[in-house]
Amino acid sequence: RQGKPLVVAIDGPSGSGKSSISREVARRLHAAYLDTGAMYRAVTLSCMEAGIDLTDSVAVEAAAETADIALSMSPNEEWVRVSGRDVTDAIREPSVSSSVSAVATTLGARAELVRRQQQLIRDSGLRIVAEGRDITTVVAPHAEVRILLTASEEARLRRRGIQLGGTQSAAALKEQVLVRDAKDSTVVDFQQAADGVTTIDSSDLDFEETVAAVLDVVFSSTH
Ligand code: DC
Repeated sequence: RQGKPLVVAIDGPSGSGKSSISREVARRLHAAYLDTGAMYRAVTLSCMEAGIDLTDSVAVEAAAETADIALSMSPNEEWVRVSGRDVTDAIREPSVSSSVSAVATTLGARAELVRRQQQLIRDSGLRIVAEGRDITTVVAPHAEVRILLTASEEARLRRRGIQLGGTQSAAALKEQVLVRDAKDSTVVDFQQAADGVTTIDSSDLDFEETVAAVLDVVFSSTH
C-alpha cells in the first residue's frame, strides 16, 4: 500500500454524530473505517445469547477473548458478524444498548478489544478513520490526526432521537444517551480532550459543516 500513514482517531459521546461523520470522512479520504463501538456491542450480544452474567467480569473477559467478530472496514458497507452470523441490526437493539456499558466497563474485555482494534488498524495499511471513546488516548494515541467530537446535551438527545426513528420517550432517550455516557465515563474519559487532541463542537453545525470541520483538521495536521 502506497502513501504515508493516515490514521484519523475520533472520540466522542453518544449522539455526537461520530459514526456517520467518521464514515463520511473515511469515504472522502478513500480510507478504511473502524466502528469500535460495534465491537463492544457484538461482545455484549454474544454474552446475552450465551446467558453470561454481565456482572461476572471473568466470564465477560473470557467471552471477549473468544468471540469470533468480523466487521466491515469499508465506509460504504455496514455489516457485523458474530461466528459468521449477521448481527448488524441485532447489535443496535435497545436491549444491547442498555447492557453494553457492562462490557465497556470490564477492563479485561477492553484490553482484548483494544488489542484487536490495534491489529485491525495495522491491517488497514494505516489509512483509516477509527472512532469510539478511547481511540485518541488508548487505541491510537500516536495517530496523525486526533479529534474529540462533542455536542451539547440537547443536540445529542435530539440526534439520537432522530436516529432511533423519533419514537422514543424523552426518558428512554436520556437513559440511552446520558446514563450510558455516565457509566462509560467511569473507565474512559471522552468528555475532555487529551493533550494534542482537537475538539470540534458540532452543536451548531450541520452534517456537511461537521464533515468539513473534521477534514480541515485532517489537512492542517498533515500539511
Ligand atoms: O458508539 P456506540 O454507542 O456504538 O458504543 C457502544 C458502547 O461501547 C458505548 O456504551 C461505549 C462503548 N465503547 C467504548 O467503551 N470504547 C470504544 N472505543 C467504543 C465504544
